[in-house]
Amino acid sequence: MKAVILVGGLGTRLRPLTCNTPKPMIPLVNQPFIEWMLLRLRDQGISEVVLAVQYLAERFRHAFGDGSRLEMKLHIVEEPEPRGTAGAVKNVEHLLDGPTFIFNGDVMTDLDLRAMLAYHQEKQSKVTIALTPVEDPTQFGLVETERDDRVKRFLEKPRVEDITTNLINAGTYVIDPEVLRYVPPNQFYMFERGLFPVIMQIGDPMYGYSTRAYWTDIGKPQTYIDVHHDILIGKVKYDFRGEQIADRVWVEGDATIHPSAQMVGPVVIGNGTVIGRGARIIGPTVIGPGCQLGTDVSLEGAILWEKNILEEGVTIRNSVLGANNTIGAKTYLTDGAIIGDDCSFGAENRLERGIRIWPGTILGDKAISF
Ligand code: GTP
Repeated sequence: MKAVILVGGLGTRLRPLTCNTPKPMIPLVNQPFIEWMLLRLRDQGISEVVLAVQYLAERFRHAFGDGSRLEMKLHIVEEPEPRGTAGAVKNVEHLLDGPTFIFNGDVMTDLDLRAMLAYHQEKQSKVTIALTPVEDPTQFGLVETERDDRVKRFLEKPRVEDITTNLINAGTYVIDPEVLRYVPPNQFYMFERGLFPVIMQIGDPMYGYSTRAYWTDIGKPQTYIDVHHDILIGKVKYDFRGEQIADRVWVEGDATIHPSAQMVGPVVIGNGTVIGRGARIIGPTVIGPGCQLGTDVSLEGAILWEKNILEEGVTIRNSVLGANNTIGAKTYLTDGAIIGDDCSFGAENRLERGIRIWPGTILGDKAISF
């Protein structure tokens, strides 16, 4: 069984975290998101995967090569220019045979892939689209189905009075590669606006597979924070790496934790991290590898990538810190602040309310109170 993962998008909504790192390579609980996804596919019987890459392709090659480290076969195929979702699959058509899974590379789900494939085969479908219910359908592309689940129509961001379903396209498909003959070669072409309407017009069988599996698009700052919290509080099935040293506190490799530090799980601490005297780490929180947390640092609902230095009395709540930052004493990052990589902040800054700071920013003492 083969799969294609679409990893060519620019990830603009998640900037500045995606300025230096392609969206699928950003860490999810200290592991590149795409690595978690590849292992999940492997464990569900998909042993050969094509990564349809566009931007910062070398990062994928460097991390995964031919896939042997993950005990699977991996093809990393770079597009000459962005081809769109269906165009990207057309570009790797020569590698496909038989029913194939297609995944958006920014969707976290614990969907049962074997069950979805069995459904595709039972219906003799040519395209099967995973559907998931949402609370506010006005923000999404909806998929309306007949009583037998055959797809009836697509509604893009409808007005309230036009809403007939709360099911949205969950960004996971099973296709029979023969439908790629409807996709024009060497062109930008999308599934939702291109291929799916054509298949409906021709009348090939296309079904919706509705599921209540966990589903989140990790591609927005708040959903990136939320998905971490959901994993840590156990809302989604997840195998934590590392050793559990206290109630829901996991350490990956070695960490030095001062005996006076207070820790309330769920918390994950990366390899080589040092936590200083009087620190308060309240879950759900993830601390990347190689970080240094000074005296009386306070974290709650925080996501820290690798190699950050937090000086004395820094507070971080419900915010994300990229890699290699130095945060000066008594600085506050709260309420959805998103900080890129390689920044250096002086003491006593306040960054709040979803502020986004680009990589390499340097701030003096008391320079920002936002
Ligand atoms: P935003 O810029 O924040 O909207 O993110 P995005 O660029 O990733 O776009 P979007 O979330 O709509 O894309 C859905 C999935 O398709 C993501 O996994 C993208 O990586 C992928 N994708 C989008 N466009 C292309 C493309 O032209 N080529 C390839 N290979 N993948 C694409």
